[in-house]
Amino acid sequence: MLGKYAIPAFNTSDLEMTQGIIRAAEKQKAPVIVQTSVGALEYAGIDELVGLNKAFAREAKIPVALHQDHCHDFNLIKKLISLGYSSVMVDASHLPYKENLKLTKAVVSYAHRRGVWVQAELGRILGNEDWQNVKSGDDLMTDPDQAAEFVRDTRIDTLAIAVGSVHGIPVDPRIKKVLSTLKEHVDIDRVKAIRKKVKIPLVMHGASGVPDKQIRAAIKHGVAVFNIDTDLRVAFNKALRDNLKKHVEVYDPRKILAPATEALSKAAEAKLKLMYTSGKAKGFRVNPSRPRT
Ligand code: 13P
Repeated sequence: MLGKYAIPAFNTSDLEMTQGIIRAAEKQKAPVIVQTSVGALEYAGIDELVGLNKAFAREAKIPVALHQDHCHDFNLIKKLISLGYSSVMVDASHLPYKENLKLTKAVVSYAHRRGVWVQAELGRILGNEDWQNVKSGDDLMTDPDQAAEFVRDTRIDTLAIAVGSVHGIPVDPRIKKVLSTLKEHVDIDRVKAIRKKVKIPLVMHGASGVPDKQIRAAIKHGVAVFNIDTDLRVAFNKALRDNLKKHVEVYDPRKILAPATEALSKAAEAKLKLMYTSGKAKGFRVNPSRPRT
């Protein structure tokens, strides 16, 4: 798989998003990762959103991995593992290196004993997401040597790298300035340098808005998972507004939301095609060490 195709990890916070994502993956016969942020769990309720995602995953005709995005709350991580998530991201990248290492190692030890994979982050991904608001790019990119040491010492399964992609839509002038120095948004040379030293799959966060050719170049050099939230939200939002404007007489929430879900699903399908994930569902197993929930 590495170097040939990647799997998108789409964020969800509600029924419509999960439904749109799963429909897209089924149409494309593609494996998919459905992930929740801490904010999404707060919005919908932990048991409620996880329960909904589990039901969709169970019924889906394609392999679905349930993943927790950025989380530094060990208790919440334990709860999500007990509820059946197949992987979790422990994000202690805001802490000094030694503390990041310590928390990550503790989570890996706990998760691996239960057959759950762990993702961690080194460097800091720019932009706005949940509790994170990273504005400056100085020295925040992932250092390849430190990444090799971090992966060796923590025994994580996937590594989230900071290579210029941004969470959300970059409106902050400081972020725009950093991006303008990166020529094409993502520093592919840095991806290559990390790949030389790190053999586990790499994860690119903030993949919305990254030009297609950069996504494909990143796949070639070892990025196996791309986190996408904003592009699906934008598609949903546009269709919702258009529909409400066009059909002022509609008041049934299902009729209001269905075209937006459809637009989100189409946007997800486009990502699956872009990442060569289409048609890869057959024979694909989500975390074989974890019983299907
Ligand atoms: P975008 O919202 O920029 O797609 O980023 C999503 C993400 O990285 C989730 O962790």
